[in-house]
Amino acid sequence: MPVNYLHSLLHRVEKGWDPIPSSYAEEYAARAWSEIRPALVERLEQELGGLEGKRILDLGGGPGQYSVLFAQRGAVVTWHDVSREYEAITRSRAQAAGVNMNFSVGYLEAANRFRSEPFDLVFCRVCAYYARSDRAFVHLLYSLVKPGGIGYIECNTPAFARPAGLRKLQYWLNEYLYWKIGHPMPPHGRIAKLVQKYPTANLRLDYSSELIDIVTFAKP
Ligand SMILES: C[S@@+](CC[C@H](N)C(=O)[O-])C[C@H]1O[C@@H](n2cnc3c(N)ncnc32)[C@H](O)[C@@H]1O
Repeated sequence: MPVNYLHSLLHRVEKGWDPIPSSYAEEYAARAWSEIRPALVERLEQELGGLEGKRILDLGGGPGQYSVLFAQRGAVVTWHDVSREYEAITRSRAQAAGVNMNFSVGYLEAANRFRSEPFDLVFCRVCAYYARSDRAFVHLLYSLVKPGGIGYIECNTPAFARPAGLRKLQYWLNEYLYWKIGHPMPPHGRIAKLVQKYPTANLRLDYSSELIDIVTFAKP
């Protein structure tokens, strides 16, 4: 949708724009680090046959809690996010943990720059709705997974956002016309439907909470 594209032209990351205020970044980071789920990392580690030397993209990596965990288990991690506040937090957490990783700051769409070197795992937790287009984002994420690799997308649904008033229109436009103004959460089932346009193996859908869709797939 041109509205979000126009917004990105007027708010340039390379010119220092950061949507995340420092105080919020600190607060979110403290919570995110305390709620980390090692079992998720262990599951993905098993599916990949170990993490040692595996290339992982943490897309919208935020305060880096999963980036650091992957790196501690030997993965070669690229953290990508729009926020320099989160970059600073992740850098300091990585340093404290004694791990190295690659940092890339930009909009989700800028991850396109990694297309020529796809990853063993593309990990995208609670940020897919920030993409300018649900359709284009799933296509991009799929193209960033190398054959034999895994894609993991965890994304809140409208049941989480519970839009009211004018925001209902924002959600309606995305649900029925795929027009995004701002960042409406994709309708339940959309991420999986979009992933299934491409060849996948071992597609798993976790719909155990109505608030979040979790889609894991392997790329044949
Ligand atoms: C709810 S946080 C999730 C962070 C992390 N993945 C986690 O599991 O805690 C959403 C993240 O999306 C990032 N973000 C928001 N808009 C973005 C955009 N347009 N492009 C890239 N990242 C964006 C934020 O900076 C933030 O790190």
